[in-house]
Amino acid sequence: MSEAVAVAVAERFRELYGADPDGVWAAPGRVNLIGEHTDYNDGFVMPFALPHVAVAAVARRADGVLRLHSADIEGGVVELRLDELAPQSDRNWTAYPAGVVWALRDAGHDVTGADVHLTSSVPTGAGLSSSAALEVVVALALNDLYALDLEGRQLARLCQRAENVYVGAPTGIMDQTASACCETGHALFLDTRDLSQRQIPFDLAAEGMRLLVVDTRVKHAHSDGEYGKRRAGCEKGAALLGVDALRDVPFDGLAAALERLADEEEVRRLVRHVVTEDERVERVVSLLEEGDTRAIGPVLTEGHASLRDDFRISCPELDLVVDTALSAGALGARMTGGGFGGSAIVLAQAADVDTLTKAVEEAFAAAGFTAPRVFEAVPSAGARRIS
Ligand code: GLA
Repeated sequence: MSEAVAVAVAERFRELYGADPDGVWAAPGRVNLIGEHTDYNDGFVMPFALPHVAVAAVARRADGVLRLHSADIEGGVVELRLDELAPQSDRNWTAYPAGVVWALRDAGHDVTGADVHLTSSVPTGAGLSSSAALEVVVALALNDLYALDLEGRQLARLCQRAENVYVGAPTGIMDQTASACCETGHALFLDTRDLSQRQIPFDLAAEGMRLLVVDTRVKHAHSDGEYGKRRAGCEKGAALLGVDALRDVPFDGLAAALERLADEEEVRRLVRHVVTEDERVERVVSLLEEGDTRAIGPVLTEGHASLRDDFRISCPELDLVVDTALSAGALGARMTGGGFGGSAIVLAQAADVDTLTKAVEEAFAAAGFTAPRVFEAVPSAGARRIS
């Protein structure tokens, strides 16, 4: 994040609102290394922050008005009255920042208004948490400007509430926590039950490896309904098994649990994914802590098979990335994020990156798919003030 970006964003704020902002903040998108669809099951996840960020220039107001502007979306400044903010009243991008203000006020924080100018380099619809980045950057700015003294994980909870209640998307806590709490050079091992966390050093470059993100350019259409169905299925599984959440089914008790669900074919598959995925997160953490980074590759690939076959949220483009990358020598590959499109990740030896990228691009062209966007993901900083 260069100083130049902060200066340019502040300058645009002055043009829009005729005064200086009180500050400029940034919050990143994320890639999830492993631990998919575990976060609403109280399980484990392991995301890291991307260098791509949402940036907000913000000034306080005292008159109960929220003004919002985005450099990335057509249209001018949107003006909202804080006392009129109501859950699910807004279907536009403004629901994310407005939802955060609503969630803060609903939690009793005395936020009296703001002028906000936003811009973001996080690709949208790519499963890289562009909406969480927008929420977290606004939450952090207001936390500082109103001296609310909330920690990253508390801000993440408020942002999740904005998304669940105000926007109306039934997502878990991973994306917001990743954006708020990740650290440069580390992946975040997060227990989504109590938000306890451990920063795990994850420096692939030092070991001659790279992690590629392949954005399939398939926007995850219809994913909201499908996401909700998977979540409801998991909750049904937990209820049938008599546990609070699937996190409470131990890996060595999986066979017995599946036997009890013999008549529930769909729920069985969902349960099997979640319980094995939690175990995969723990395995990846152990391997990284033992310094055996290469060995995480096959665990990532196992995770993909489980999402494809048991959770059933992959798509032809994601499968093509994974299959092609593995045939071309990748150490491991899997879809990342909510599914039904979005991005896949590929773990590779540095020397193989060009060959792999070419192989994936050629496979997409041969299949008649839109050209994917491939970039290297470097574990970057979480949300912070930049000026
Ligand atoms: C989306 C949601 C997250 C999480 C992932 C799947 O990114 O926002 O809460 O459930 O899907 O792991």
